[in-house]
Amino acid sequence: MITKNYIAKGEGADRFEKMPVQIYETADSAVKAVAREIVDLVQAKAARGETCVLGLATGASPIKLYQELVRMHEEEGVSFRNVVTFNLDEYLPMAKESEQSYHYFMHHHLFDHIDIIPENVHIPDGTLKNDEEIERFCRSYEEAIVRAGGIDLQILGIGRTGHIGFNEPGSFLNSRTRKVYLNDLTIKDATKDFGSRELVPTKAITMGVGTIMQARRVILLAWGEKKAPIIKATVEGKVSDSVPATFLQMHSNVQFVIDSEAASELTRADRPWLVSKVVWDDKLTRKAVVRLCQTVGKPILKVENRDYEDNGLVDLIDKYGSANKVNIAVFNDLQHTISGWPGGKPNADDSTRPERAIPYPKRVLIFSPHPDDDVISMGGTEARLVEQGHEVHAVYQTSGSIAVLDDYLFQTLDLADRFNRHGDKEEGENKFQRLKKLLASREPNEPESAELLAYKATLRQVEALAACRFIGIPEERVHFLNMPFYETGSVKKKPLSKEDIDIIVKLLREVKPHQIYAAGDLADPHGTHSTCLNAIIQAFDVVKDDDWFKECYVWLYRGAWMEWEIEKVDMAVPVSPSELSIKRKAIYKHGSQNNGPAYPGDDPREFWQRAEDRNRNTADLYNKLGMAEYEAMEVFVRYRHGER
Ligand code: F6R
Repeated sequence: MITKNYIAKGEGADRFEKMPVQIYETADSAVKAVAREIVDLVQAKAARGETCVLGLATGASPIKLYQELVRMHEEEGVSFRNVVTFNLDEYLPMAKESEQSYHYFMHHHLFDHIDIIPENVHIPDGTLKNDEEIERFCRSYEEAIVRAGGIDLQILGIGRTGHIGFNEPGSFLNSRTRKVYLNDLTIKDATKDFGSRELVPTKAITMGVGTIMQARRVILLAWGEKKAPIIKATVEGKVSDSVPATFLQMHSNVQFVIDSEAASELTRADRPWLVSKVVWDDKLTRKAVVRLCQTVGKPILKVENRDYEDNGLVDLIDKYGSANKVNIAVFNDLQHTISGWPGGKPNADDSTRPERAIPYPKRVLIFSPHPDDDVISMGGTEARLVEQGHEVHAVYQTSGSIAVLDDYLFQTLDLADRFNRHGDKEEGENKFQRLKKLLASREPNEPESAELLAYKATLRQVEALAACRFIGIPEERVHFLNMPFYETGSVKKKPLSKEDIDIIVKLLREVKPHQIYAAGDLADPHGTHSTCLNAIIQAFDVVKDDDWFKECYVWLYRGAWMEWEIEKVDMAVPVSPSELSIKRKAIYKHGSQNNGPAYPGDDPREFWQRAEDRNRNTADLYNKLGMAEYEAMEVFVRYRHGER
């Protein structure tokens, strides 16, 4: 179990929601149900000798759905010969062969692997040049949908702007297929696919909201916590063209299919006590009291009966007897998460501490998806573990090579070249000069050569080694796993293979750690963090019966993008001003990621700034709840393998 999302069920649990929402624990189980529905429809229509018209989406959300349809075709013999498809949109301008095109996407993920008749596939044409041609095309697209009998089932994703298709805020209910301009946030989100913001097209052709609304059934998919705010706004908010997806509230046959992360801001998940009877475990009680403190602007020990009553929490008073009693229970619970001894405090009573006192010292493995996540997310704790005498190993899961800008590599090669010229050879072209030429002649978006990528990977290794040296982790305890799934040379990664898992298993069995830290960050914009975590979890499945593993505590930190909610935290490690400065310097060692990293997400701050802001905010939150005032805090959630 990673984080328990309490989601109210039963009658009335969805009473804040203005359209049907089906919540699944994971996207995997959700897509199975949706794929089943699609196939049932396709087969029912085939049995009647009819074609089935599907409206299809691209993006990250439907990928697993398409994988399941391909599986059903390959393993269960499901046929798609009676299927006609219309895709929602395509970038403009966009060549069909380009890896970023929705043409490429659809063929790569679905059409090339099923028996659909090629003439039945329709995708907007991103190669059209002038507006007249585009308008003509859009009209003919609408006509083709009508000719095909209208869309039976439309699959949608949702953008963080609330767009469906590329109908950005401001799109009207009656809009039809047309040329549109992409919203700034949408362009930022697409940057991960294009490598840099400048390369993302600013226009697209999209079906209109009106076109989508005419589909006989609509299923919208959303996964992950990044979608949680827009799902809440869409499902619980007012219908408005500033969130175009809210128009779906007016559709008579719409279904949202989302995972528990995307559901996490819906009232039934965020404040389940407002919608149904709940079972008050410690974490849910903490969540309710923290929310209450934030609502009434008081620290825990000052919240009164009246505050509980006014905010739908009488239940808690009933359970504990009085506001004071709830307050004290939650205060102690939170107080016990704070520990300056992340590896356990030797010779101390550990009954209320997050970590055990013995064994001491501990063997600690810190997994880091990219070569800088450890210092960004837990640099203070990492330094403390070393200082408190533990055997700390830093484990870098991927090479991180694609996050090195050409410019930065050029500068490094230039240094090597000039050093080289200081040496013996002055004549002829040396290797570094050749590589510099190769870099200088590289076109944007051209795939990287394996040779250059290897240099980028080495650069990141050298940076990680420098940070470790600075913190006090010796080189023999620094492990570079270079997991193969990452090594595609592009943002699109391979699926995890046995080889990836075996590498982790081997290291675990070599070190036999007492304590493991890993990135539990599921909000990573390009998925590497969640893949890295999955690999570790799959490795745990292999070692779960090993004696050492039964005694091993696993702690999850969050990557650069988000912090754990306070109600989930099991350990909070204070970071003093001087430790914060150590952490900042360790982050600085990752020079290739400073000064505007290649994958900044939608946050313009440097990594060290984000880390400091985040850690200071956490300390501030603890302080506002009435705990001691610290400079900063790094927080962790305990992962218990095999528990739900
Ligand atoms: C794609 C499309 C978009 C996406 C949306 C979510 O054809 O029309 O509306 O569905 O941008 O994208 P992902 O799924 O990548 O988060």
